[in-house]
Amino acid sequence: MASLNIVILAAGKGTRMHSDTPKVLHHIGHQPILAHVIACAKALNPQKIIVVYGFGGEQVKQALNDDAITWVNQAEQLGTGHAVQQAAPYLDENGQTLILLGDVPLVDVQACQQLLETSQQGLTLLSFNKSDPTGYGRIVRNAANKVAAIIEHKDATDAQRAILEVNTGIMAMPTNQLKKWLKQLQNNNAQGEYYLTDIIAFAVKDNVAVTAEITTDEWSVTGINAKTDLVHIERVYQARQAQILLQQGVTLKDAQRIDIRGNLTCGRDVEIDVNCIFEGNVILGDRVYIGANCVIKNANIQTGARIAPFTHIDDATVGEQSRIGPYARLRPGTILAADTHVGNFVELKNAQVDIGSKINHLSYVGDSTVGKNVNIGAGTITCNYDGANKFRTIIEDDAFIGSDTQLIAPVTIGKGATIAAGSTITKNAPADALTLCRAKEQISITGWKRPQKIKK
Ligand code: UD1
Ligand code: CA
Repeated sequence: MASLNIVILAAGKGTRMHSDTPKVLHHIGHQPILAHVIACAKALNPQKIIVVYGFGGEQVKQALNDDAITWVNQAEQLGTGHAVQQAAPYLDENGQTLILLGDVPLVDVQACQQLLETSQQGLTLLSFNKSDPTGYGRIVRNAANKVAAIIEHKDATDAQRAILEVNTGIMAMPTNQLKKWLKQLQNNNAQGEYYLTDIIAFAVKDNVAVTAEITTDEWSVTGINAKTDLVHIERVYQARQAQILLQQGVTLKDAQRIDIRGNLTCGRDVEIDVNCIFEGNVILGDRVYIGANCVIKNANIQTGARIAPFTHIDDATVGEQSRIGPYARLRPGTILAADTHVGNFVELKNAQVDIGSKINHLSYVGDSTVGKNVNIGAGTITCNYDGANKFRTIIEDDAFIGSDTQLIAPVTIGKGATIAAGSTITKNAPADALTLCRAKEQISITGWKRPQKIKK
């Protein structure tokens, strides 16, 4: 197959975003807008991807950090034709070039494939019909209904402005022809710019076939110019991801109240209640249930686990059939084996908890190894930090930690040990024994009175 080169135009400043961040680095689904376009380009298996950058160039390059891309600087933004001219020296002699826009994140792989197929015969552009075409380049057709030219809004006559078929900016053509046409571009138009769209008339003059594929999926060709576009496209992106999950058999209580900011992989019969956010790579095994208002990032939640509402999980593994939440927080490095229970207001950090153990109420367990069938009572704190160093707590199988216990790390609680409620444990506790460390005696002072408010 002849070689395919893809040029992504991304030099525009994005003035209407009113932001110091280059437009193409604003996010859709937690990914830069430009990253979505690059992902589409990669799906087409090109020999080369060339990104024409300008405003905030270094920042864009760094954020994308992708060796597969040829970066071309367009120091001055003199128009879309000028932008492609900057890329021309890098284009392979034979084959096809596909032009994509760096600010159109929902660009569709199949539509591009279709364009590339048709453009074997000549120049093919993607158009769509817009009820309010203001600002767009109009597709001007001849008496035989063949595409004759694209006229930019600012250069168009009233009759041309009445045309509703507009240019998306996405087009494909034989590279040799493109290089020839680029040399002929002039900037004697309303905006004093080098318009890429002028090549359509050149192609017609050269008797090269020009075709417009009309798309009906307007979102897939909508560019982002302002924050309102960003929020609209984000909703469309999320709705589409929700549809994919539904098609895979996931139960969503409300397809409009889920946000996937990365990759969510679900097994069979997964159920997700409203207002959950999934970030990074999240894997939910078969029959996993996620309650309302959970935020789950880079997590592996295994078969049959139930995550109750308002739980926050970051970089953690939850074993099969475990019960987490409501209001639990699993922080990085937490690995829970099967059948564990973590209840309300429990924070775990870098804690590895083995099969069947329970930490049900109001506890902090950090930098800890917890064995099998351990019961950690309400209000237990592992004191893992002395202000400079972190220390580990080890709790062996079958231990029972009474409520309101502080475990001053480094410390080991032996197998089957019991720690009496209210203890502050500073030394290792032996296996199978009861260890307690409380004030020696309980005293009562009769006649003692609480302070009274003085009445005015
Ligand atoms: C362009 C098209 C118009 C089409 C519209 C669709 C031209 C002359 N016009 O118009 O027919 O209907 O897109 O949105 O092509 N860019 C550069 N360097 C430049 C100028 C632009 O890289 O010097 C990039 C921008 O970053 C953007 C894309 O090209 O990603 C389109 O630029 P924009 O200014 O939005 O083009 P329009 O005038 O809207
Ligand atoms: Ca535009």
